[in-house]
Amino acid sequence: MIVLDKVDKVFPGSTIPAVNQISFQIDEGNICVFVGPSGCGKTTILRMINRLVEPTGGEIYIKGKKVSDKEVNPDELRREIGYVIQQIGLMPHRTVEQNVALVPRLLKWPEEKISLRVKELLETVGLDAEEVSRKYPYQLSGGMMQRVGVARALAADPPIMLMDEPFGAVDPIVRGRLQDEFLRLQKALKKTICFVTHDINEAIKMGDHIVIMNKGELVQHGTPMEILCNPANYFVKDLIGTDREIKLLELTKSEELVTRTKNIPEQIIEKDSFILAIDPVQRALEIMMKKNSDLVGVRDGAEMIGTISWEDIKKHINMISGDN
Ligand SMILES: Nc1ncnc2c1ncn2[C@@H]1O[C@H](COP(=O)(O)OP(=O)(O)OP(=O)(O)O)[C@@H](O)[C@H]1O
Ligand SMILES: [Mg+2]
Repeated sequence: MIVLDKVDKVFPGSTIPAVNQISFQIDEGNICVFVGPSGCGKTTILRMINRLVEPTGGEIYIKGKKVSDKEVNPDELRREIGYVIQQIGLMPHRTVEQNVALVPRLLKWPEEKISLRVKELLETVGLDAEEVSRKYPYQLSGGMMQRVGVARALAADPPIMLMDEPFGAVDPIVRGRLQDEFLRLQKALKKTICFVTHDINEAIKMGDHIVIMNKGELVQHGTPMEILCNPANYFVKDLIGTDREIKLLELTKSEELVTRTKNIPEQIIEKDSFILAIDPVQRALEIMMKKNSDLVGVRDGAEMIGTISWEDIKKHINMISGDN
């Protein structure tokens, strides 16, 4: 859907490329997360996709079409691509309604349609349209502003969304909630999304695919599981941190590890140590610690389907994490 082929960017006056020979592909309906330290080129990549920055080399294709093609009008291109800019970027002297309605008004939608769309979007991102529509950005909390930023990017229902640290300006609790809500929304919307973050945990949680960058270079890309199982080098290992095994267990569903049996041991029933088949294996560990037990039962709805033991978890970690 979006293809970058050996893309370079050297800014005028600089000798070091901000982005150096980057190639990868983002499939339709996927969330691709770019992660890496400050200055590694994440924002530059997003801005080359919607042509706010022109590459100095290579090609970018959207749905097989060169973004740099003379026939492609950059303004029209940008209307097809929702953009949540870093630091939110709401216009301070315009109300929430005016901010969200920006692109639909540019597209000259009838006012009635715009009004319905704004209301619908504000509700979609979890805001009370009645309450916030006429407010100005400074009258909102950080979390509310980020929601308005997402609503604005979704306004014209673009197939592609570029999201630059969309949940960066809020505390970890609000952030977790925004992430969960957005993932739920994406299940229905199925947009093709480029998502930038500094935070590897956010990348693992949000990404179908992760692109790890450092100093303008692509260091590694793959699914969260691929990256956790096989970090390419010390830079990636360092980024993942010391709790790699825990992160792997968060990505593994209990049903993948369950030993199916109808005979659920007494101790499990006595201690009420159960998890759900859809829970991450991490949850099994938590229950083991809480109930001081080395075995948990696994339920699928109301049905008991089997057990997971501490030994099963250890074996699983050894198998998937290898010697890395
Ligand atoms: N308009 C510009 N002119 C000159 N240099 C620029 C410009 N924009 C970005 N750069 C440089 O390009 C490099 C990459 O910047 P970029 O903003 O893409 O990084 P980033 O990964 O988004 O960082 P952060 O996480 O801090 O947002 C940096 O060295 C930056 O100084
Ligand atoms: Mg940036």
